Amino acid sequence: MRRAGAAAAEILLEVGPHVVPGVTTDRLDEVVHQAAIDRGGYPSPLNYRGYPKSVCTSVNEVICHGIPDSRPLADGDIVNVDVTIFLDGVHGDSSVTLAVGEVSDADRRLVIETRLAMDEGIAAAGPGRPVHAIGRAIERHARKHGLGVVREFIGHGIGTEFHSGLQIPHYHDPRASTILVPGMTFTIEPMLTLGDPACGMWNDNWTAVTLDGRRTAQFEHTLLVTDEGIELLTVTADGTVPADVFALAPVSAL
Ligand code: MF3
Ligand code: CO
Ligand code: CO
Repeated sequence: MRRAGAAAAEILLEVGPHVVPGVTTDRLDEVVHQAAIDRGGYPSPLNYRGYPKSVCTSVNEVICHGIPDSRPLADGDIVNVDVTIFLDGVHGDSSVTLAVGEVSDADRRLVIETRLAMDEGIAAAGPGRPVHAIGRAIERHARKHGLGVVREFIGHGIGTEFHSGLQIPHYHDPRASTILVPGMTFTIEPMLTLGDPACGMWNDNWTAVTLDGRRTAQFEHTLLVTDEGIELLTVTADGTVPADVFALAPVSAL
């Protein structure tokens, strides 16, 4: 799981610099596909439940599961790149939201606070902690910043299967009463919105969008519960966190 997680982080670091105005998300798909193969892995999304590409690229009002296509990214877009690699029998799953060129202050705030919301969720997790503490921390952070939390898509157990076992809501759900124990591996991947978090679906049956058309951001790590706390698995072998490398400069009035 450490090796698969590190590979996912390396692929994010490799694809990130390609995210510039004018690049198509199809090109990002090619880069991620090749990067997974180069590492001796397989891009988990490809043919997963019929998904047609090797990465998810979710632009602006797309909440998640955006399918790469021929539309060039434009200056001012935000795009989440969600990489999952299957390596040596297990999956590593991680995503970052990147700015394309110069983005508005409102979008920078959305992206920065979504990343911080994920971090709050991670900080609330650990051995002996209930799963619902994670969503409670994320929802509290979102509310403090006037952002919505998507409810339709949640974090998940991960290992030999892409999605299995634990379910990790990103809002407070007291029914998520499972107690975390060492050895569990799962993702935290909150999707926050500038407006209403209500969700619609394109007729491709993958692309999830905000119904109000306002923008949304997401970050994701794969995590391991240890005896001491939580270990980030989707970091490189030297501990580099892709979300740090691509972090946006804060807006002064944050
Ligand atoms: N990587 C996504 C997640 O975080 C799942 C994508 S499923 C796909 O769970 F089929 F769209 F790739
Ligand atoms: Co995931
Ligand atoms: Co993912």
